[in-house]
Amino acid sequence: METMVVGRRPLLQLIGVGLVLTMVLFLVGCATSYPQSTFDAAGPVAKKQLDLYLFLFWAALGVFVVVEGLLLYTTIRFRRRPGQQATPPQVHGNTRLEVAWTLAPAILVGVIGVLTVRTIFDLAAPPPAMAPGEEPLQVSVVGYQWWWEFQYADLGVTTANELHVPVGRAVRLALQSNDVIHSFWVPKLAGKTDVIPNQANTMWFRADRAGTYFGQCAEFCGIAHAQMRFRVVAEPEEAFAAWVSAQKQPPASPVGLGTQGAQVFASRGCAACHTIEGTTAHGRVGPDLTRVGSRQTLAAGALANTPENLARWLRNPQDVKPGAKMPNLGLSQDEIAALVAYLDGLR
Ligand code: CUA
Repeated sequence: METMVVGRRPLLQLIGVGLVLTMVLFLVGCATSYPQSTFDAAGPVAKKQLDLYLFLFWAALGVFVVVEGLLLYTTIRFRRRPGQQATPPQVHGNTRLEVAWTLAPAILVGVIGVLTVRTIFDLAAPPPAMAPGEEPLQVSVVGYQWWWEFQYADLGVTTANELHVPVGRAVRLALQSNDVIHSFWVPKLAGKTDVIPNQANTMWFRADRAGTYFGQCAEFCGIAHAQMRFRVVAEPEEAFAAWVSAQKQPPASPVGLGTQGAQVFASRGCAACHTIEGTTAHGRVGPDLTRVGSRQTLAAGALANTPENLARWLRNPQDVKPGAKMPNLGLSQDEIAALVAYLDGLR
């Protein structure tokens, strides 16, 4: 008997520690400091979704506490005690209780239903009217295995994996896929919308704070799905206008080693897949590289955009991002150095 009592305490302590660690783990998920936290809404769409989520969460928590509380209370209060007869008194039915526990959940589910449907319709509607003369920014998003293209048709700009938007202005997205189903998700700005071949889905968001927001493909789409990331750069109107006008200028002519890089680019077939405005490269298979040097990342967020990483990518794309459609061209060290100088100069 005594050995059992001694053995039980460490077990209880272990369970206690386990429970605390599990709770800490769950609570860490609610931190708002992470770049893809849905708890840090930075615009009206994400805010509305967060509000609905929080209502559901607290309602569910209330139900959990009441039900589990009653369960624990009855288990302890009415447990079998020594000397008690084996079968407790038998009762059948309690009309008042039964009406209560049918009505209460029905009302709760009704309220949840109304709030959910209202949120869905609110978010499906076009963005709210803006100041006169101010139109939402229109961007076409095309999902590719495994990167994103952003086309600003009205502005004559195409870029990849980095969506620049003005702060405080609604952005309407038309989503298309070039191959399989992807899902466009920027947790701090708006929930997921599927990107489906031959189906035009639309969504909108507005960034109310300047900053860089992390996005991620949220529908499994093949081997490099996890590395199909992108960034949304929200900046004040003037900075956005400056970015647009810089994107529209043809890139500066290469100098020094970059000149050789431009030749390597032409002779090694890069132009078959990539576009660089102002040159003869008009391939539409891979990302537009007109301003690749100005972007924050390479290979859809797989690497920070530095000359060293660009060289690593050119040496063997599969090594950086298994499954990437960019082939290993078997480039020499000299060719890689020249290409890095050329591409890094495209700003
Ligand atoms: Cu695209 Cu997952």
